[in-house]
Amino acid sequence: MAAVLAPSSATAIDFAPMRADDVDAVIAAEQRIYDFPWTRGNFTDSLAAGYGAWLLHEDGVMLGYAVMMLAVDEAHLLNLSILPEARRRGFGSRLLRQMFAVARGKGAKRMLLEVRPSNVSGIGLYRHFDFIAIGERRGYYAAHHGREDAIVMARDL
Ligand SMILES: CC(C)(COP(=O)(O)OP(=O)(O)OC[C@H]1O[C@@H](n2cnc3c(N)ncnc32)[C@H](O)[C@@H]1OP(=O)(O)O)[C@@H](O)C(=O)NCCC(=O)NCCS
Repeated sequence: MAAVLAPSSATAIDFAPMRADDVDAVIAAEQRIYDFPWTRGNFTDSLAAGYGAWLLHEDGVMLGYAVMMLAVDEAHLLNLSILPEARRRGFGSRLLRQMFAVARGKGAKRMLLEVRPSNVSGIGLYRHFDFIAIGERRGYYAAHHGREDAIVMARDL
C-alpha cells in the first residue's frame, strides 16, 4: 500500500512502486516530456531487473516517476520526470528525496546520474540538491543534430 505522506495538507501526495500495469500511463507521460523518450522496453526491462521505480501521485493522479539502479553502495538515477503542468511545485524535489531514502535504505552511499548540458531544469534541480559535476560522457544522448554529451553528476547520500 502507498504511504500517504501529507495527510494534513489540502492535497494527498503519495509514492507507489511502479508496476507493469502502470507502464502505459508512464510511457504516455514520457512521450509528452522528452524529445527522445524511453521506450516501453526501457521501462519493462527496468522493472524486470528489479530497479527502484516509483510513481508520485497527487490525489490519485500520477504527476511524476523515477527509475533508479542500485549497485552495492551506489545508486544510479536513470530517470526522474514530472509532468509539465505540475512543475515548480516541489514535486521533483519530493520525488528525488524519496529516491534518496530508498537508496539509503538499500545501503547506497552515493547517487550518480547523467544529465544533458542543455537541460536547464534538470541541472537546476540537481544543483539545488548539491549534486556536483564529476565528469562527462561524450555523445551519450541522441539529439536532433548528431549526439549530445552527458554531464555526470554525483552526490553523497
Ligand atoms: C527537472 C524536473 C524533474 C524538476 O521538477 P520540479 O517539480 O519542477 O522541481 P521542483 O519544483 O522540486 O524544483 C526544485 C528546485 O529545482 C530547481 N529547478 C527546477 N526547475 C528549474 C528550472 N526550470 N530552471 C532552473 N532551476 C530549476 C530550482 O532550484 C527549484 O527550486 P525553486 O523552485 O525554489 O527555485 C522537471 O523540470 C522535469 O521533469 N523536467 C523534464 C525531465 C527532466 O529533465 N528530468 C531530469 C533529467 S535527468
